[in-house]
Amino acid sequence: MCGIGACLSLLGLNVAPKVLKMIKNLEYRGYDSAGLAMITPDGIIDVRKDKGKIADLEIKLRFSEMKGFIGIGHTRWATHGAVSKRNAHPHVDCSRCIAVVHNGIIENYIELRKELEAKGHIFTTETDTEVIPHLIEENLKHHDNFFNAFEESIKQLKGAYALAVITLKDPSKIFFARFFSPLVIGIGECEYYIASDIPAFLEWTRKVIILHDGDIGFVSKEGVIIKNIFDNTIVNRDVITVEWTKEMAEKGGFDHFMLKEIYEQPVGVKRTVMMTEKQMQGVLEILENANDIYLVAAGTSFYASLHGQYAFSVYGFKSRAIIASEFIEEVGSFIDEDDVIIGVSQSGETADTLKALRHGKDKGARILAVTNVVGSAITRLADKVIIMGAGPEIGVAATKTFTSQVAVLNYILLEWAKEHGYDVELLLDKLRNRVPEDMEATIRETDEAAKQLVEMIHKKGNAYYLGRGLGLPIALEGALKMKEIAYLHAEGYPAGESKHGPIALVEPGFPIIAVVLKDAVYDKMHIAIEEMKSRGGYIISVCEKSDDKTKKLSNFYFDVPTGYSNILAPLVYIIPLQLLAYRTAVKRGCDPDKPRNLAKSVTVE
Ligand code: G6P
Repeated sequence: MCGIGACLSLLGLNVAPKVLKMIKNLEYRGYDSAGLAMITPDGIIDVRKDKGKIADLEIKLRFSEMKGFIGIGHTRWATHGAVSKRNAHPHVDCSRCIAVVHNGIIENYIELRKELEAKGHIFTTETDTEVIPHLIEENLKHHDNFFNAFEESIKQLKGAYALAVITLKDPSKIFFARFFSPLVIGIGECEYYIASDIPAFLEWTRKVIILHDGDIGFVSKEGVIIKNIFDNTIVNRDVITVEWTKEMAEKGGFDHFMLKEIYEQPVGVKRTVMMTEKQMQGVLEILENANDIYLVAAGTSFYASLHGQYAFSVYGFKSRAIIASEFIEEVGSFIDEDDVIIGVSQSGETADTLKALRHGKDKGARILAVTNVVGSAITRLADKVIIMGAGPEIGVAATKTFTSQVAVLNYILLEWAKEHGYDVELLLDKLRNRVPEDMEATIRETDEAAKQLVEMIHKKGNAYYLGRGLGLPIALEGALKMKEIAYLHAEGYPAGESKHGPIALVEPGFPIIAVVLKDAVYDKMHIAIEEMKSRGGYIISVCEKSDDKTKKLSNFYFDVPTGYSNILAPLVYIIPLQLLAYRTAVKRGCDPDKPRNLAKSVTVE
């Protein structure tokens, strides 16, 4: 959801190529337009921006030829105002002395804009962001010091923001502010970076300061100065060294990040299980004393949570997975201090998820967070945090973080079941030692099958993904992947429910992707498949290698290792569906890493 990249060189080196690289590294956050602003050696602010992808704009606007040792950049995911050159960031004030890049939404921008226009400010865009440079310009009329005018302006903003600001009034500093939307500072060799996310600058530094809500400040020769506007004091934030490496945020020979991330899943799950084991202290105590347990998440994280709900139920533990944006209306009034909410979020920054968790926290519920990002907003909200070991995920469509989330929830569940006297040693051992190997084999074997099936499926306009019980979250996630990156209308549906409506659409050749586990609902899955088949549906099954009966029923099948018709199912069953979506997207000429209209972290509600 918009990417901010800013850089200051203390040695006076030209930073435009680095700012450009930073926003390229953050393109997964938004990519409908982009721009850079630099304070040039001639003492002006050079702003270049337009709509389009960064690679094209780079050629058109020659970003890397821009001059200056201080610069800010932005890659946009539009919220207010059409995708256009003038609405692209950076935005400037009337005198072009202040340039601002922003991620988030300024909720009171209409009132502020009216007031500023009444005072003579001329607006040139439809964005909420443009009020910020004008507001600072206005406040500078009664402040000599830029920082004081900046602080006063920030206090007038309502909504969510991460900001990087440069000004000719104080041209050797980059100013920043954060409230709700993420912002981090990278400490390099004689260089500072300010960015929406750590992968922006991983190639230059792993030393990071994670800003908190209400932090404002600047980087300059004096170092990093941070003031918290709520405490009204200068604060010291820890510099942490992240474990992610530069290679983890690069494509490493793969055509796309998504494909690399699908292939990284065995390692990600292995690391995640090891890390979860070390972070279990206190987790079971929280769950044990809970009255109601809710799993709250959005997108792919929701389907991992739904898996959690089904898996918990296998061992008799009651929980409910709820879509974050529905949480307050659906169950908000029932939450109290005896409840536990498990917030599942790759980024740890999804606004809907954070809002639901804040609501729960205000009502006294305890919060357990499962996330991929150290220091993300969810970690500050939670009573207990589990960090996954998936590594940075750059592809917009979540893949390796889905399997890592499933691994965390399964691990917690198995430990809990053990406490309750279940004999789960074999499953635990399999999760720790066998799963990565089986995932690797599944990737190898099903990628070839996916390439074959694509020849048929890429011409289709619709598909159903059916599953039952533990197979349902897998089907839903598989359909989401296909929709997100191949723009093929794929609908995930409970197989038993498919006769109550969806079947009306089925005609000869209609693709039906069936997730078939050899469990208690195996025969019922077959009934649904038969119903679809007798209407001409083209049956594509994902089933265990030894499941000849399902294979016989199918026009095409992907087989996964035998022995996964249990809570470990998503770890292998989802792989062919991820690969099928990826291969279909490529075949249809779509960019799987940057699907249209989507953003990786959605920091607005
Ligand atoms: C966006 C992304 C999805 C992601 C969802 C939740 O919609 O495009 O891939 O699953 O947000 O994100 P989170 O970071 O909370 O897991």
